[in-house]
Amino acid sequence: MRLPYTRPTVQRLNQGPVNPFRLGTSPSCSEIDGVSVADLTREHGSPLFVYSETALRDAYRDAHRAFSRRYPDVQFAWSYKTNYMNAVCRVFHQEGSIAEVVSGFEYEKARHNGIPGHNIIFNGPHKEKPDLERAIAEGAMIQVDNIDELLTLGSMVKGRAEPLPIAVRVHLSTGGQQVWSKFGFNGDDGELQQVVRRILTMPQLKLIGLHCHVGTFILDPDWYRIAAKKLVSLALESEAMGAGPIRYLNMGGGFASHARLHYQYLPPEQATPTMDRYAEAICDTITAAWPSERALPKLYLETGRALVDDAGYLISSVVAVKKRVLHDPVQTAMMAYGKTTPAALAATSSQNALVLDAGINLMYTTTWYQPRILPARPCLDAPTPTTVFGCLCMNIDVLREDAPLPALTTGDQVVMHPVGAYNQTQSMQFITYRPACVMTSPGRQVHVIRKRENLEYVQELEAVPEHLK
Ligand SMILES: Cc1ncc(COP(=O)(O)O)c(C=O)c1O
Repeated sequence: MRLPYTRPTVQRLNQGPVNPFRLGTSPSCSEIDGVSVADLTREHGSPLFVYSETALRDAYRDAHRAFSRRYPDVQFAWSYKTNYMNAVCRVFHQEGSIAEVVSGFEYEKARHNGIPGHNIIFNGPHKEKPDLERAIAEGAMIQVDNIDELLTLGSMVKGRAEPLPIAVRVHLSTGGQQVWSKFGFNGDDGELQQVVRRILTMPQLKLIGLHCHVGTFILDPDWYRIAAKKLVSLALESEAMGAGPIRYLNMGGGFASHARLHYQYLPPEQATPTMDRYAEAICDTITAAWPSERALPKLYLETGRALVDDAGYLISSVVAVKKRVLHDPVQTAMMAYGKTTPAALAATSSQNALVLDAGINLMYTTTWYQPRILPARPCLDAPTPTTVFGCLCMNIDVLREDAPLPALTTGDQVVMHPVGAYNQTQSMQFITYRPACVMTSPGRQVHVIRKRENLEYVQELEAVPEHLK
């Protein structure tokens, strides 16, 4: 019998200093921004999303500093889909970020947050006509994704006195992962040039920008070096064909946070590049490739997860303690050859398990990433691999297969981190209500930024036909 191959990984069990009693101290997280986790849950319930305002601002300032010290004209655009809770968006807007949206809903949210149309970058593969009409009227930066959208736009602004400035999205091979060819036009095989020719036949449109979002959680800054070089060369080529002038290059987002991918060999502290490394890759490449006699184009960045992920925590409570039977491949093989008994198999392969009051409906990103899970109180015993189940009545609801955790008991709290990117916006109301979200602000202030859902909220849009009442 052939056993399936599993890639090896190294997982550090942070045990802390050992002592003569052979007890370690497990790392723990009893406070967030100086506010006690116990107080937070007592006040706002469990589970609870917590965002640190200070961490949001620090991440923005670090990223902005890294780029603006290397490049004269940089503008960040907050990627709404990463986390569009208004309080989070407004922190970034206060810091100077404009908005990047990918739907009419997100566009409305950005306007509601006080962002004028001309400070909204409108992306996405599906822009509805009424949304495009609004974006055109309000002077938003429309980044065209596909030929149908280009033709729709062309017909919507036919006869306009002034041509409508547009950008187009390009996908590029950077030698690494699969190209995100779902979005935009191919910049490697001549498709973009065809599109530029098409735009040149439409006097009502004017190409002024190129956009490329290579992908997400890019751990190798060199991919940006390659993409930036190609984008400059496409910009210059488009201008040589008669388009432009190209006023801006948009390098999208994709910078990594300190999350850890499943099967990621190195820990985040070693694997995640600094913002300076990303900034160097992008800014130095554009500066070197752009004609020296011309002013550099404006540089837009739509970084999402790298700004918000590390600022987000999910507090959850242990609701049950269990043992989990593991399917150890060696034992399973022995079982197939009749060399062991089911009882022996079960006895030799079980591990500690916990059930939490939060499930994968709140932590969608656990499909790809392993959040750190820390007890909310100091624990003296050593951590052991522990399966962390969610609270949903579904077998797939596993938050971590093997989190290093000390023995915990029902009623204990744990803190998951980093979870600020994509989890809240992709969370769904399923089986349970979605939890409250709070923001911790300087001076140990705690603000509710989204209330816990209730029956009234969940049922608000439902209707019961008369005969079923
Ligand atoms: C066009 C665009 N810009 C920005 C982002 C933000 O990406 P990230 O959160 O990886 O920085 C995304 C995410 O997929 C995107 O599609």
